Amino acid sequence: MSAINTHLLPQTADISSAGNLSIGGVSVAAIAEQFGTPTFVYDEEHIRTSCQSAVRAFGPDRVIYATKAFINTAMAQLAHEEGLLLDVATGGELFVVRNAGVPANRCVMHGNNKSLEELQSAMREGLHHIVVDSFDELQRIEVLHSEGLPAPKVQLRITPGLHVDTHEYVATGQDDSKFGFNLNNGDAMRAIEYARSSPAVHLTGIHCHIGSNVLSVDNFEDAWRVMVEFFLPLNLPAITLGGGLGVAYTANEVAPTMEQWASVLHRATSQLPATTEVFVEPGRSIVAAAGITVYEVGTVKPIDGIRTYISVDGGMSDNPRPMMYGSEYEAFDPQRANAPRSGRARIVGKHCESGDILIFDAAVPENITVGDLLVVPVTGAYGYSMASNYNKVPRPSVVFVRNGNARLVSRRETFDDLVRLDV
Ligand SMILES: Cc1ncc(COP(=O)(O)O)c(C=O)c1O
Repeated sequence: MSAINTHLLPQTADISSAGNLSIGGVSVAAIAEQFGTPTFVYDEEHIRTSCQSAVRAFGPDRVIYATKAFINTAMAQLAHEEGLLLDVATGGELFVVRNAGVPANRCVMHGNNKSLEELQSAMREGLHHIVVDSFDELQRIEVLHSEGLPAPKVQLRITPGLHVDTHEYVATGQDDSKFGFNLNNGDAMRAIEYARSSPAVHLTGIHCHIGSNVLSVDNFEDAWRVMVEFFLPLNLPAITLGGGLGVAYTANEVAPTMEQWASVLHRATSQLPATTEVFVEPGRSIVAAAGITVYEVGTVKPIDGIRTYISVDGGMSDNPRPMMYGSEYEAFDPQRANAPRSGRARIVGKHCESGDILIFDAAVPENITVGDLLVVPVTGAYGYSMASNYNKVPRPSVVFVRNGNARLVSRRETFDDLVRLDV
C-alpha cells in the first residue's frame, strides 16, 4: 500500500523530503510536542476556502453553516467572518455561537424537539428564522406569542419521502423519519395551512434535509425536484435544501465538489422565480477535510495468525463514527508521511470496549512502535463535536494553524474538568 494519498490531507499540508508533515506551515510533530495528544488540528485556510467556495457557489447570505459538524468560539467567529449564517440545533449551540459574538439575526434554529426555553430564546433574540419540525412546536410558538413574544419568521421542515444512499442513522428524507412534516401523508400541506392561519408565525418558506454524508448527486436532485414541485404553488419567498454533501474519507472514495453540488441545485431550482431565496446548510463539507487528529501510539500487540492491534491515546471518545456508522478512515505516521504503508493493523483506542475501533484494517508503515505519532485525516466533522468523556478520558485540545502559527482554540480538558459538575 502506498503512502497516504495527499488528497485526504488539508489544503496547506506539506510533506518534506524527509517525510515530515506540516499544516499551515507548522510541523505536526511540533504541535503534538507543544499541545500533547490527541489533538485535533485544523487548517484555518482550508476552512476559509471551503466557506468562500460555498458562498461563491450559492450566493451571499445563502449558506448556513451546520454547527453540529464542529463548533467552538473560534469556528463560530470564522464562519461568521466568512459571511455564513449559522444553524444551531439546540440551545447549547445557540449559546456557543451567540457567546462568540455572532448576531442573532445570523442564526437559524433547528431541532426536532425544541423546548419552550429554546424557542423562547430564538423568539426573544430575533433569530434569522426558525425551522419548525412539528405541530407541537407550532403550538409552543403560539403559547410564547400569546405571552408577548414577537412572531418569528419560520420555515417548515418537510420530509420528501425518498430513500437516500447513506447510513440509515443519518438518512432523514424517508417517510419513516422523526424529522419534519411528512409530504406523502398530507402533514406537510396541513402544516402550511396551519402556519398560514396562525398569527404567531410569519411563514417564509420550506426546508428539507435528506441526510448526511450523501455522495450521490442524483439523491439530491431527486429530493430537490420533489421539494421544488411542492414549493412552487405555495408562492413563498424562501426554500432551504439542506446540507448533506458527503466527503471522501479514504483514497478510494470520491465526493462531489461544492461546485458540482451547486450545479445540481441550480438545475433542480431553475423553474423558481429569480427572487426566491434558496438556502443550503452544509456542515461536513465545510470542515471535515480541514481537520486531522494526531494520536500517540501506546501499545503494539501482534497476535500471530490473526492481526496486529495498535492502541492510541484516544479512540471512540474523540471519534465515535467508526463505532456508530462503521465509518472508514486511513492513518499514517506524520514523521514519515511519504513512507509506503505496507503493514496492516487494527487501530484501536484506550476505552474498555472491543468496539473501540478507529480503523478496522488500516494500512500502516512497517515497524510502527510505541511513541510514534499516528494521524487520522478527515476528522474535522462530527469528531470533536461528538466527543465524550467515556472512561473519564479528557476531551482533546483543538488547534488552528495558519501562516506558520499554531493557535490553541479549545484547550484539552483536565482531570478537574471531569469533576466540575459533581456536587
Ligand atoms: C437539518 C440539518 N441541516 C444540515 C445538516 C448538516 O449536514 P452535513 O454535515 O452532512 O452537511 C444536518 C446534519 O445532520 C441537519 O440535520
